Amino acid sequence: MSTLPLDDTATELQTAREWWRDAVIYQIYPRSFADSNGDGIGDFPGYTSKIPYLRQLGVDAVWLSPFYVSPQADAGYDVADYCDVNPLFGGLDDFDEFLRTAHEVGIRVVVDLVPNHSSDEHAWFRAALAAERGSQERARYVFREGRGAQGELPPNNWQSNFGGPAWTRIADGSWYLHLFDTKQPDFDWTNPEVADFFDDVLRFWLDRGVDGFRVDVAHALIKAENLPDIDDRKKVPAGDTGPMWDQEGVHDVYRRWHAVLDEYDGDRLLVAEAWVSPPERLARYVRPDEMHQAFNFPYMVAGWDAARLRAVIDQSIEANESVGAPTTWVLSNHDVVRHASRFGLADPTSWPNGIAPDDEQPDAALGLRRARAATLMMLALPGSAYVYQGEELGLPEATQLPADVRQDPTFARTGGAEAGRDGCRIPLPWVKDAPAFGFGPSADVWLPQPDSYGPLAADQQVDDPSSTYSLYRTALELRARYGLGSGSLAWDADGFGFTNGSVRVVSNFGTSPVGVDGEILVSSDGTAGPTLAQDATAWVLVP
Ligand code: GLC
Ligand code: CA
Repeated sequence: MSTLPLDDTATELQTAREWWRDAVIYQIYPRSFADSNGDGIGDFPGYTSKIPYLRQLGVDAVWLSPFYVSPQADAGYDVADYCDVNPLFGGLDDFDEFLRTAHEVGIRVVVDLVPNHSSDEHAWFRAALAAERGSQERARYVFREGRGAQGELPPNNWQSNFGGPAWTRIADGSWYLHLFDTKQPDFDWTNPEVADFFDDVLRFWLDRGVDGFRVDVAHALIKAENLPDIDDRKKVPAGDTGPMWDQEGVHDVYRRWHAVLDEYDGDRLLVAEAWVSPPERLARYVRPDEMHQAFNFPYMVAGWDAARLRAVIDQSIEANESVGAPTTWVLSNHDVVRHASRFGLADPTSWPNGIAPDDEQPDAALGLRRARAATLMMLALPGSAYVYQGEELGLPEATQLPADVRQDPTFARTGGAEAGRDGCRIPLPWVKDAPAFGFGPSADVWLPQPDSYGPLAADQQVDDPSSTYSLYRTALELRARYGLGSGSLAWDADGFGFTNGSVRVVSNFGTSPVGVDGEILVSSDGTAGPTLAQDATAWVLVP
């Protein structure tokens, strides 16, 4: 948040603005952030021990991916108990301690909510399997009879987002719907019991003091009536419009949740994970009585490409402004190839689902150079920005993971055709010369770390002014000082540059150096001017 006291009125306005409008939110991936007990998996005491690091980095909030009781069939996005901590990560008291410690230093805490599906090990789904066709227990999920003479064919032609059919048949011959893994049965959101249940889940965490929720696959909860076949397509790309995505009914759910959050003091946040485009369609999730933010995936998929970036930045800001919501910016998360590697592929707009050893390998130096340039551009954009753990260290994707360590269900469900998301989920390196690069007190890690993570460990970077960590830290400090998150954007007449308040942001996407006049506040490649090389960004003080 900006703390720049322009004058008294401006200061008052700043404090009156909801914190999330310009917040920088850091995503913690619980399995891989920090391990305290040496079992090779992150845990709450580990996260708490890193709060000083997060504070020094300068983030406003953290978002924790799911840490709930779960058999971990989809790394926790398969929830068996929404109101308790998985013993892997600690207990509710460890969660409370983390929350208290974060709040003490002014860091807000957003938790993940997974309302589209539960785990098949959730008490409700177990009860549904034990109950009969047509029972109240089955009605909480989407059970249907199959097609074909014996009901041996799935009820419709939908495909799972992870590959394979979206239906699984149970012992009595009925089928249940799962847009993701077999172990993630979809709830039936037309059943009021489901809606009531989630109101209670929201209240449980709000009562404990969380500052908001990131809503998993927010565009999927309601399916088109009678579950019609999707037109001829073999696989449904995420975000494509089909009878399972972006149906009108989802908005009623978010209006209801908005009202629940309004019962609580402070500004609690709902942020949508909705793979919906174009930006006008996505903006409907953040109308004044619905959610507060939505991840800007159209921006994330634009790649390192001037024309695409400029177009999507304009469209997103315009669409969000039309509903009074802030625009968000994001380059990496736990579902996509890290941007330091995506941008090192021959085509820096490529969008692979993971990178396997025999796929095209990214150029690490080029990727990091572009990632730093792209990040510096992103952090100057008005609105709220999301940072995925480890990107502040410039971590690349792990691209050499052997098949036998891969855990993302995508890999198995596509028969290995898609490498999947494990490569962006590797345990963080904290200390170069320590077992598991200091991830925890033992050498155990749930996914192997590449050797290249050693020199990128946090202890190698925090005191090095030229490191990627220092770039993030400096940018966050300047972003706050100049109020960039709450500013506005004006494009230069030519070239790729824009001005936000007192800062002019120039990125060089071309092959020849461009001139930059004025004092450079920070640059992605360390230049102090007077020219900016290819694949670099600089923030210049407007005289
Ligand atoms: C979201 C999550 C992803 C998960 C999926 C199913 O896309 O970000 O990690 O696999 O939903 O819950
Ligand atoms: Ca642990």
